Amino acid sequence: MVSLLLNHDVPQWLPAMRAAAPDLALRVAPDLGNRADIDAILTWKVDAELLDALPNLQLLYAVGAGVDYLVDLVRQRPHLRIARIADDAVSGDVATLAVAGTLQWFRDLPQYARQQDQHQWEPLPVRCSAGTTIVILGLGRIGCATARAFQALGFEVCGWSRTCRSIDGIRTFAGPEGLRALLPHAQVLVCTLPLTDQTSGIIDAALLASLPRGAFVVNVGRGAHLDESALLAALDTGQVSGAFLDVFSTEPLPAGHALWRHPAVRITPHVASRTQPARVAPQVVENLRRLRAGEPLLNLVDPVAGY
Ligand code: GLV
Repeated sequence: MVSLLLNHDVPQWLPAMRAAAPDLALRVAPDLGNRADIDAILTWKVDAELLDALPNLQLLYAVGAGVDYLVDLVRQRPHLRIARIADDAVSGDVATLAVAGTLQWFRDLPQYARQQDQHQWEPLPVRCSAGTTIVILGLGRIGCATARAFQALGFEVCGWSRTCRSIDGIRTFAGPEGLRALLPHAQVLVCTLPLTDQTSGIIDAALLASLPRGAFVVNVGRGAHLDESALLAALDTGQVSGAFLDVFSTEPLPAGHALWRHPAVRITPHVASRTQPARVAPQVVENLRRLRAGEPLLNLVDPVAGY
């Protein structure tokens, strides 16, 4: 078996990794032991200094869904590779939050909560999911799960990705032209994209202006996908009628940030998913076995594409 270092940000993985591979040589940062022994590191984020202190490191195992924190480090160190977790529970959890964030707006739940406080029985017009178009940006594992979740509720769902993807029952579009064609129909825009050089800042003032008036914006991708000032401006003109945000350009979202107090914005503190170590430790162990055997690894990230 190879030696795996659990970085200081993932100590909760220790029992699951021990259970999945009792013979695995495990270290937990900052106790590195003999640095030359370490072949792989399991981590969420990692400092360059740590990578450079491990002379025989080959593999970064990313515990999160997004690997943007790791990609640049590996681009600068081509001897390293990144493997990621592949877990439908993670994508399902992100989809659940995207749907929840959308539905609270779609079915006027904040307004009904206010009315309840006043003991006010006042039905609002009922919005109908059939005929409401949801556009999902990003058609990876999370985007597909999100598309399916909205589809199951009767929404019209379209998906967009950088390169062509075909998904049963979902109309898909690709590239800049596909995006231009889709945006005017996106009554709800849901970002599940990976953060890359191409997708950073994608939800900017021009994109928001291309949405139908009164659209709703959901971001469960990364904060850097969204120009937050442009969103606030679009909310203030009514071009965008509300937003549900789980991720922010600065996290934690600074106290006093205008997003905190905007009445049309709902915020969750980057909680869309948490990988459950016990569920996925076996796939980490299998990849470590492959690393040792010199076999092809599963779920590798393409450092050029960035995901
Ligand atoms: C959370 O943002 C993740 O990437 O897992």
